[in-house]
Amino acid sequence: MSSELDEKTRRRAEFLKEKLHYHNYRYFVLDDPEISDAEYDRMIQELLDLEARYPRLATPDSPTARVGSAPLEKFETAAHSVPMLSLDKGFDEKDILAFDQRVKRGLNTKEDILYTVEPKMDGVAVELVYRQGVLETATTRGDGYTGEVITPNIKTISLVPLRLNQPEDLPVPGLLEVRGEVFMETADFKKLNQWRMENGLALFANPRNASAGSLRQLDSSVTARRPLRIYVYGVGLAEGIDFSSHAETLGILEKLGFPVNPLVRRRITADQTAQYYRELDSRRPGLAYEIDGIVMKVDRYDYHRRLGATSRSPRWAIAIKFKALQERTRVKDITVQVGRTGALTPVAVLEPVNIGGVSVSRASLHNEDEVAKKDVRIGDSVLVQRAGDVIPEIVKVIDSARTGNEKPFEMPARCPVCGSDAVRIEDEAVTRCINRDCPAQLKGNIRHFASKAGFDIDGLGTKLIDQLVDKGIIKSLADIFRLDAGTLQGLERMGPKSAQNLVDAITDSKKIYFSRFLYALGIRHVGEYVARLLASRYETIDDLAAADSRELEAIEGLGPVVAESIAEFFRRRENLETIKTLQELGLRIMAEKKSQEVRALKGKTFVLTGTLASMPRSAARQRIEEAGGRVAGSVSSRTDYVVAGESPGSKLDKARDLGVTVLNENDFMQLLRAAGFSLGNG
Ligand code: IVH
Repeated sequence: MSSELDEKTRRRAEFLKEKLHYHNYRYFVLDDPEISDAEYDRMIQELLDLEARYPRLATPDSPTARVGSAPLEKFETAAHSVPMLSLDKGFDEKDILAFDQRVKRGLNTKEDILYTVEPKMDGVAVELVYRQGVLETATTRGDGYTGEVITPNIKTISLVPLRLNQPEDLPVPGLLEVRGEVFMETADFKKLNQWRMENGLALFANPRNASAGSLRQLDSSVTARRPLRIYVYGVGLAEGIDFSSHAETLGILEKLGFPVNPLVRRRITADQTAQYYRELDSRRPGLAYEIDGIVMKVDRYDYHRRLGATSRSPRWAIAIKFKALQERTRVKDITVQVGRTGALTPVAVLEPVNIGGVSVSRASLHNEDEVAKKDVRIGDSVLVQRAGDVIPEIVKVIDSARTGNEKPFEMPARCPVCGSDAVRIEDEAVTRCINRDCPAQLKGNIRHFASKAGFDIDGLGTKLIDQLVDKGIIKSLADIFRLDAGTLQGLERMGPKSAQNLVDAITDSKKIYFSRFLYALGIRHVGEYVARLLASRYETIDDLAAADSRELEAIEGLGPVVAESIAEFFRRRENLETIKTLQELGLRIMAEKKSQEVRALKGKTFVLTGTLASMPRSAARQRIEEAGGRVAGSVSSRTDYVVAGESPGSKLDKARDLGVTVLNENDFMQLLRAAGFSLGNG
């Protein structure tokens, strides 16, 4: 199989690795890509091909290691060369000032001490060991002295450099142990749990548990599919590199390619730290991830050495926690919602209560087992918690407030929407409505079909979908393609113009990439990732439909449950008929983007504002992307072009302020024509 490896191929592989490391860093760490996703994919694919032919090329630091590797039997353990201590805790501003006093006493000084202060991330602490600039091992914190080796899992996190950057003014350290916190953003966590709920899997209680669970996977290809992130906040042992302060360390780590939390404040006084603590607490609900306080660290390392540590924690740092976002309220009722897959979800209806500035009136109870576990009853007084923008949850029932009149919840035996039987399959936590034509399921399926990652039909929102289904206008997915402006105009809040816009958006959406189409079908277990995987393996939908579960299971990254779910979907006649009808109604499935050699808009970032007369926004975006460009949501100094249609918004003002090139519709059409699109004269 493996043939002789020649020098030219070896160099090509090295070149690809270098480039991929660089572009990975631009994309994930700097959030400022220079090439299109398609181009990146093409390079990864070329490297994967080379490594398949010449296994010697698949070095541990290869960017291809990020997709995960062969499952482990068990986790090895490894000792930390410098213990990963924990932190002393404080709970308010007084504790900040008291800590400052202790530090001054310890250093025997009256001078102001400067601190570098960071958000305390609520995730999982890890250590990354780099030898000669290459990631060698990664471990969990464990008990602080010994942790579990989770190297393949850590490698799947795109933000983790597999090789250090080599800035000119820095030597490559012989050894560098970097410490940080792996976490999951709240929105990603919600999506993950939503997916798990729909598929009858146990839910993670919070983002931290989800991160920990994802890192403790023996099969790293599972970890690869979890949206993990990392911020680094310190070093253990280091050889061949010197640090004199914490602020300097963070700066160097940034230069070496690590993500450092941008909310870090460098070298501030204790008073400023108290102010930062207040500020961050009030910004907390708006942050993308959960934090539970701040960590205040003496900046100078010579002071660290003088202050030392107890066996548990250093004397130069302290965590100051925020108050938990919890309040007491009453459960007025427990209702049941029906989702896209027919899953019945119990929801607690609460006496509205203000938690950290947000009024909370509902909390998801996830499933029957969850209700039983927490023993939540109608009429109970409960403690409710809101973290970030996670769905509020009931922490616990306040037993002492029970009167005996509370009513236990019972999962209904029938679907509350269509009245069909609701059954719970063994091994699953979820109860489902068995009626595939249940209006609740149809509505959910249409929302999914029209969603951004699917057909991306602008204007087909929840309220409209409800009307269309309730009035019997849409009875199946194919009916979406049959909508006409006349019918739509009769509906609430639908003028002739918006009706026509929607019809145009639908017409436009009919040309769709294979992976998006697969996603849109709403096959259980087929999210964007699996859809892309399938689209890269099969040329056409007919090829895929002909595959049985054994064949599908052989695809790396697809487990037996997913494979069977796909095969089952295509065994059902009604599904094949839906696909056929969609095709008859104008569906055109396009093969995945093949990267072209000439990509005229390569690396250019566009922002669209206002309405274009000649094409819907989705079409403009598609064309930009096909030509190698990228469309961003907001204008910044990195934007290359702002395309302004009719009645543009504030983005246009911002573009002018920043001096970004503004294109009117004509300019834009010209640019697209120059990029090789045939657009007529419109
Ligand atoms: S520094 C000896 N900085 O807090 C000091 N820790 O109780 C080492 N954590 O296990 C920790 N964000 O998981 C530090 N910005 C931050 C942090 C942070 C979260 C966690 C970390 C550690 C725990 C210490």
